[in-house]
Amino acid sequence: MAESPRGWGITPSTDIPTIAFGNQKGGTGKTTATINSAAALATRDHDVLAIDMDPQADMTKGLGLGPGDDNDPSSPKNELPNTLVTDDENLLDVLVDNPRTHDTSLSEIVIEADEYDHLNFDLIPSHKDMGLARDWMDDANARLSLKLALEEMVDDGYNYDFIVVDCPPDLSVLTDAAFIAAQNVFLAAQTQATSRDALDDLWDQLESIEDNQQIEIAIVGLLANMYRDDGQSKKFLNSFDESFASMAPIFKLPMRVAIQRAWDNGRDIFGWEDANDQQVEHDLFLEVAETMERAFDKTQVEA
Ligand SMILES: Nc1ncnc2c1ncn2[C@@H]1O[C@H](COP(=O)(O)OP(=O)(O)OP(=O)(O)O)[C@@H](O)[C@H]1O
Ligand SMILES: [Mg+2]
Repeated sequence: MAESPRGWGITPSTDIPTIAFGNQKGGTGKTTATINSAAALATRDHDVLAIDMDPQADMTKGLGLGPGDDNDPSSPKNELPNTLVTDDENLLDVLVDNPRTHDTSLSEIVIEADEYDHLNFDLIPSHKDMGLARDWMDDANARLSLKLALEEMVDDGYNYDFIVVDCPPDLSVLTDAAFIAAQNVFLAAQTQATSRDALDDLWDQLESIEDNQQIEIAIVGLLANMYRDDGQSKKFLNSFDESFASMAPIFKLPMRVAIQRAWDNGRDIFGWEDANDQQVEHDLFLEVAETMERAFDKTQVEA
């Protein structure tokens, strides 16, 4: 794997820094980190595209573009359309076709930030059809599909400062496609002993992709999520530090109620005003954004 730190970001063929948020272990904070890193980068005036590669569609739902909230008539989500159930072309159409010959391109399905007041970055939403992706994306081209589709989107005239990709909690073809397109992985893990084993499997997967595709993949950060100042968390971080601290910076995020509440209301944390103080999570994700700027040598855009 590409050695880090400093200069650890790898710019893929689109020339746009692209980061996949991954960990095959479920519920570690991948989607939270994707949404809020995208929002922090946007707050720092970058043009950002976020791609929801997960059939669970949590990022799309977390931005309010999934189903409304039946239990809460006042939820802002109820004002927004459910993009997961449209009959229109969707991400599965883009990924299963050979992007060189297909009919559907990412530029046809992108939701642009200026379409909705609450959206601070462009979004490629997931879709209910994405549940079929693992069955349909069964040839060698499938792993390259997102990379080729992004190249085409850039050819279509789209340009971004950063692209972030939310991966499903598995090591399926969808995750491989995200890693190959991005060539940079940001890990989200909970600081428990079992997380360490999951990361070992992930390294194996990354190394196998690097060998098969003849590319390098960099680790650009680790979110140590729901961090608690206890022995178990420290033990995990020590073991991570020993092996991987030279690779990537570690960001410690404790359990924060406002993160959950922003999510429940279909907002990122920068677009959500909570009764509780949000300084900790704002500072953390702004630091993630600054780190990405440094990794890819992109300074904050002057407003
Ligand atoms: N630091 C945090 N404080 C409070 N809630 C959090 C925090 N991190 C994540 N959550 C909540 O925990 C749940 C799981 O987080 P998230 O969906 O980001 O994990 P994930 O790794 O994307 O899950 P999956 O593997 O299912 O895709 C979400 O409801 C999210 O709002
Ligand atoms: Mg998720």
